[in-house]
Amino acid sequence: MKAIVYTSNTGTTKEYAEIIEKKTIIPAYTLDEAEKVLSAGDEVIYLGWLMAGTIKGYKKAKSKYDIKVVCAVGMGGTGTQTAEVRCKNNIPHDTTLFTLQGGFDINKLSGVYKLMMSVMVKTAGK
Ligand SMILES: Cc1cc2nc3c(=O)[nH]c(=O)nc-3n(C[C@H](O)[C@H](O)[C@H](O)COP(=O)(O)O)c2cc1C
Repeated sequence: MKAIVYTSNTGTTKEYAEIIEKKTIIPAYTLDEAEKVLSAGDEVIYLGWLMAGTIKGYKKAKSKYDIKVVCAVGMGGTGTQTAEVRCKNNIPHDTTLFTLQGGFDINKLSGVYKLMMSVMVKTAGK
């Protein structure tokens, strides 16, 4: 495995990537950094946060690298929603998929994401 590649907005996916990096000694890069250091077709572990069921950055990463393992970080419990996430993101059946519980802090969000989640929090509170 050449690298861990990840996309994180508020830091929880980054934390998971760094834990895996420390445990495996495989270097971790953001998707942008990876473009400068990796070559097309390199084998990677990809981690992305879930937004409306979509794994951020997965499509782009898949078009460049040979993704062997995917970790989707969301609000659900670790190990839940795997069938739905696999289906919605068209993850091949021979690719290992983990769902991991991240975190949610509205104060760490900005722009459109903050707006979307403010509406959701208000709606859920009713
Ligand atoms: C706009 C928005 C949409 C989200 N949609 C989902 C979702 O569909 N499923 C889910 O499990 N989590 C969802 N989440 C929660 C994030 O995936 C979660 O907070 C994650 O830990 C963020 O990772 P990050 O800290 O690396 O950015 C959403 C968060 C935001 C801001």
